[in-house]
Amino acid sequence: MSSSSLFDPNDLTDFVVKQGNGVKGLSEIDLKTVPRQYIQPPEERLDKNQVVDGESIPVIDVSNWDDPKVGASICEAASKWGFFQIVNHGIPLEVLDNVKEAAHKFFELPTEDRRKYLKENSPTPTVQLSTSHSPSVEKVLEWKDVLIHFYVPGDESTNLWPPVSKDQVLEHIKWAKPVIRKLMEVLLKGLNVKEFDEEKESLLTGACALSLNHYSICPNPELSYGVGPHSDISSITILLQDDVGGLYVRATRAGQWIHVTPIQGALVVNIGDTLQIASNDGYKSIEHCVIPNAVKNRVSVPIFASPKAGGIVGPLPEVLKTGEKPIYKDVPWSDYMKHFYSKGHDGKKTIEFAKI
Ligand code: OGA
Ligand code: NI
Repeated sequence: MSSSSLFDPNDLTDFVVKQGNGVKGLSEIDLKTVPRQYIQPPEERLDKNQVVDGESIPVIDVSNWDDPKVGASICEAASKWGFFQIVNHGIPLEVLDNVKEAAHKFFELPTEDRRKYLKENSPTPTVQLSTSHSPSVEKVLEWKDVLIHFYVPGDESTNLWPPVSKDQVLEHIKWAKPVIRKLMEVLLKGLNVKEFDEEKESLLTGACALSLNHYSICPNPELSYGVGPHSDISSITILLQDDVGGLYVRATRAGQWIHVTPIQGALVVNIGDTLQIASNDGYKSIEHCVIPNAVKNRVSVPIFASPKAGGIVGPLPEVLKTGEKPIYKDVPWSDYMKHFYSKGHDGKKTIEFAKI
């Protein structure tokens, strides 16, 4: 495909989305500027003047989960910031490096090999390659490709995941699960929930999805988003990023953004809408976005811990026991998810769907 014909809007969508070349395929055609499908209107772009210099989200050392000070820092960060980084979480550096490298390896595969994992071709629905957020409904596309894995313990479909990345992904999930559990125990304790029992676990973190996100080199990063401003819909997300940078989160002061400085070995933790709803606004899901990079491909590996299929999202009875008025109603998780994907990323608007 010649680079000039790509500027026909139908051809571009066909090449990137339908044929499954993705943004990666686009970046391989030496484009001097981003195609207009990727150009955000000026009022939607991240204004660099709104980035607060010298401020950062909390960094919490979790080497001793049982230390009440650690618990207090986590709960405070979750209610005030909705975003923090954890260090000394116990996942070996090698496991983290391997899964980041696996992300690069997958997206470096020839297009024909990547295409095998497009939703309509994939050997199993538990692994799917896609691009942007919801290309069929978005006004402007996002400069991102993603391979998403839906993990169910004991499910043998993982054998069909891409051989270049499967082992590294599974190893990372294996190590990350106890970290997610610890975080949830601490966070629920802060909500007066005594025990993170099986029922609560299934309700809040019964399903786990891991994405290998790939943000190709972008000729005009200031005009586009890798991921537009959104809050995650999960209960919590733990995200591994590389050293390229480009993740911004809303500052506590309105209209401002904070860069999440990469720290080697750290994991970024953020509260998603499900936990904001479960906690009746005790904890906050915070808007964040990604700006792609002009010189380096960036990868990130979020794990989204979310309700099990068939689950219901709503304020926890323990939270309402004190007489607090519920801000949210009970909503089937599948409806909430459908709503999230029925539109482009739109900041914090998704949560309105569950408001009373
Ligand atoms: C996401 C996300 C941030 C990043 O996938 O929901 O916000 O740094 N990713 O890739
Ligand atoms: Ni996100």
